[in-house]
Amino acid sequence: MAETQLQKLTIVGCGPGSPDYLTEAGRRAIDSATVLVGSPHLLDTYAAPTQEQIPAGSDIDSVLESIALHREHDKIAILVSGDPGLCSLAGPVLRRFGKDVCEALPGISSVQLAFARLGLDWIDVRIVSAHKEIPDLTPEDLKTSGSIAILAGHRHSQHWIADLANALGNKRILVVCENLSLQGERIRRVSVAEFQQIDLSTRTIVLLLKAGVLQ
Ligand SMILES: C[S@@+](CC[C@H](N)C(=O)[O-])C[C@H]1O[C@@H](n2cnc3c(N)ncnc32)[C@H](O)[C@@H]1O
Repeated sequence: MAETQLQKLTIVGCGPGSPDYLTEAGRRAIDSATVLVGSPHLLDTYAAPTQEQIPAGSDIDSVLESIALHREHDKIAILVSGDPGLCSLAGPVLRRFGKDVCEALPGISSVQLAFARLGLDWIDVRIVSAHKEIPDLTPEDLKTSGSIAILAGHRHSQHWIADLANALGNKRILVVCENLSLQGERIRRVSVAEFQQIDLSTRTIVLLLKAGVLQ
């Protein structure tokens, strides 16, 4: 079958976790798919018994292979948390299959929800990903940034964040936002010493806000 006759791959931004935050467009794309690709949590939340499921774990190449194998016969929805444009499987999918055959449906990012919960705008926010690897950034790189939102949730990045917060000094307020929209949601302002003692949820956004913004 020629490439142009294959169905588009739809990448669905599912929001921070609760189905309350899934868009109508995302819901329709999920309902009309015959195959769903995504994390076990997203598959558990959205897959109907009739839909085939492809769990997406750390072996991205094998997920891409499975998508390629199903493309000819199936309508595939690739579920990602938050928004596809922020550290998601959308990147590898778009690189492998090309922009022309993919459609990305935006979702509500966990970063957006963190700022909404605090009633703050996020026009000047620097977003940093530390959920897989420690970022190649120094405090010097970030000291002139507005508020900083760090995708966190892993022990190794927690030390890096604590060092960063210490280096930026008392001009920053540290806010930990865990499990947004999900059971166990918790948002707390903490000192760096307290932060180091927290057993962070794997779903955590750490904010380093500019002093004064919470007043
Ligand atoms: C692979 S990235 C995906 C980011 C996602 N595309 C977004 O826009 O939110 C995973 C990171 O997103 C953050 N995250 C995802 N869901 C979250 C939630 N419900 N609460 C807090 N942070 C969350 C955590 O920092 C986690 O390490």
